[in-house]
Amino acid sequence: MTRANRATAISCANIAFVKYWGRKDHALRLPLNASISMNLDRATTTTTVQFDPALDADQIMIEGVEVTPEAAQRVSQHLDRVRSLAVNQTRARVVSRNSFPMGAGIASSASAFAALTVAACAAADLSMSERELTILARLGSGSACRSIPAGFVEWHAGDASNDSYAEQIAPPAHWNLHDLIAIVQKEHKKVGSTKGHELVDPSPFAQARLAEAERILPVIRDALLAHDFATFGEETEQEAIRMHAVAMTSRPSLLYWSPETIRIMHAIHDWRAEGLASYFTIDAGANVHVLYLGENTSVIETRLRALPGVQDVIANRPGPGTRLVADHLF
Ligand code: DP6
Repeated sequence: MTRANRATAISCANIAFVKYWGRKDHALRLPLNASISMNLDRATTTTTVQFDPALDADQIMIEGVEVTPEAAQRVSQHLDRVRSLAVNQTRARVVSRNSFPMGAGIASSASAFAALTVAACAAADLSMSERELTILARLGSGSACRSIPAGFVEWHAGDASNDSYAEQIAPPAHWNLHDLIAIVQKEHKKVGSTKGHELVDPSPFAQARLAEAERILPVIRDALLAHDFATFGEETEQEAIRMHAVAMTSRPSLLYWSPETIRIMHAIHDWRAEGLASYFTIDAGANVHVLYLGENTSVIETRLRALPGVQDVIANRPGPGTRLVADHLF
C-alpha cells in the first residue's frame, strides 16, 4: 500500500463503433466478438479510493450519495479482485463523480470501472502493465477495458481471461473525429446493458449480427486508420442498427429508442442527403451519438441542438487513457 493508501484516477467513457453485445462467458465477461471504440474526452469519471484499516466495510459514494446495495456489491467485488492481488483485506472508501448523467446510454460503467481499477491498484501499491489493467477492468465491466488505453482502442475478444484485453490502435491525435452526444433521456434505463448481454441468445438475428460484427471489425479498423470517413461512418451506423435489432428481438424485447432517438436518426439521414457528412451510433439507451469530422463546432451541432427533445449536447473529441491525478475527492 502507498503511504496514504489513497489514489485518484480520471477516466473517459468510450463509444463503440463495433459493439460489445453478448458474452460467451458471463462471469469472466468474455465477449462474443471483438470491439473498437474511441474515448470521449468530455464524458469522464473521477474516482478516489482509500484503503483504511479503521473500516469494517467498503463505503461507496457516487455523486455525493451512498450507492444502492446492488451497485455497492458490484464495486466491492471489484475491490476484492484488487485486494486479492495485493494480498490485503483492508476495506476502502470510494468517492466518485461523473461529468455526465449516469445510466443514460453514455457507458458510465466503462469510465466508472476503469477509474476504479486504476485508482484502487495505485492505492494498493500494485504495479500493473496497461494490458493487465485492461483485463482487470474488464472483469468489473466489459466496456471498461477500452477506457484504459488512450484514443482509439480495440478489445480482443479472447478465449480466456488473459487474452481478452484492450490495446490502442491509434492515439487521440490520429483523427479529428467528433462525437456529439444528443441527450434525450437522463433517467436510468429500465434494463441495463449488463442484463442485455444475457438476453442475446433468443434473438433470431444473434448469429447474423455476430457474423457481421466479425466481418466489419477489420473494415472499421482499416477505415479508421486510413481516415476513410464514408466507409467508417456507414459501417458504424449499420452495426448500431444491427445491435439494436438483436436487442429488440431478445426476450424480453429491449427497445431502447424513444421517439426523439428516431427523430435524430431521420435528421442525420436527411443531412447526409444534403451533403453534410454525419453518422449515428447508439448504445443501450435512447441518446444518440453523432459522428462527424472537422476542426470546429459545425452546423451539425447547431442543428442538433435545435431538434425538439434534445435536452443537451455533450461535444467530445478523442480522449486520453485512464490516468492518476494529484487532486483527491476527499
Ligand atoms: C451497448 O460494458 O456496460 O455500450 O460488461 O455488463 O458492464 P457489462 O456491460 P457494458 O456493455 C456495453 C454495451 C454497449 C456496447 C459497447 O460499449 O460496446
